[in-house]
Amino acid sequence: MSAQQSSFASTIDSLRERVPEGLIHPKVGIVCGSGLSTLGSTLRDRVLVDYDTLPGFAKSTVAGHKSQLAFGYLGPEDKGVPVVAMLGRFHPYEGHTMASVVYPIRVMAKLGVTHIIITNAAGGLNPNLAVGTIVVIQDHIALPNLTGFNPLIGAQTDLSLPRFLPLSNAYSRPLRKLVFHAAHQLGLEKSALAEGTYAWVSGPTYETPAEGRFLRAAGGDVVGMSTIPEVLAAREMGVEVTVLSLVTNAVVIPDTYNSIREEVEAELAGKPLPAAVDAIVSHEEVLTIGKQKAEVMRQLVEKTVELIGSA
Ligand code: 6GU
Repeated sequence: MSAQQSSFASTIDSLRERVPEGLIHPKVGIVCGSGLSTLGSTLRDRVLVDYDTLPGFAKSTVAGHKSQLAFGYLGPEDKGVPVVAMLGRFHPYEGHTMASVVYPIRVMAKLGVTHIIITNAAGGLNPNLAVGTIVVIQDHIALPNLTGFNPLIGAQTDLSLPRFLPLSNAYSRPLRKLVFHAAHQLGLEKSALAEGTYAWVSGPTYETPAEGRFLRAAGGDVVGMSTIPEVLAAREMGVEVTVLSLVTNAVVIPDTYNSIREEVEAELAGKPLPAAVDAIVSHEEVLTIGKQKAEVMRQLVEKTVELIGSA
């Protein structure tokens, strides 16, 4: 057994000691993004496991992220679906290796989840996306994947997994359909839910205006610093994936830079100054919108899980 395989074995042994039989093989895995971990409190028969007591798990260091795995049932009493949720995730920008970032996803897959729902907070690149919109991700642009920072780079230790993973079907169509059915059943307004492409950047810096324009021109609708490593690992393990991005702020992408020359010339001529375009994104803003919309996101995830359970 490779070192990594024995690490998985000890993680799963450790979970078996704490999680009851009915919950140790959950059907759905959930990853909760910034400010979106309230889902954990609605699980029935909940069992919480701290990451720092689990072999192989790193610790999430970002505000708004907890460091716990939650097992429990979601959905109505009579048809509850066993789920496992990460209340807080790992990002490469925290200094975690890619292997640590995706480790919990691999554990979920080994426990037997067939579906994973990933939520995140993201910046809106598409000007049609209002803050507060939930975007059902249909595709991604991952510059790191294309430039030598792909999370699946490494020796192939498990020969049962594909070496060259196709990503044309990364975002499950049936699962996206269930999300829209769930939104309909919840009576969400049409504008509450959109579809789009996620642009993954490594962070921790937010984009410059030029980078924002670049990602928009490339076809990105939202931009964020997470999720794609988890998507790749889940797809490699054969798990169906859906991603829900909450737009927490608009990435301001002026057509041109504010011209300092124009500003000074207007000043010298005693004319009114051109309007300055400057909006500074902050993590507090991201968490505030996350909190405001956490309830909608929670309901959408819960209803989608229910539909997966009865599909
Ligand atoms: Cl504006 N950029 C990135 N990279 N991630 C974000 C974000 C922006 N807003 C929330 N998450």
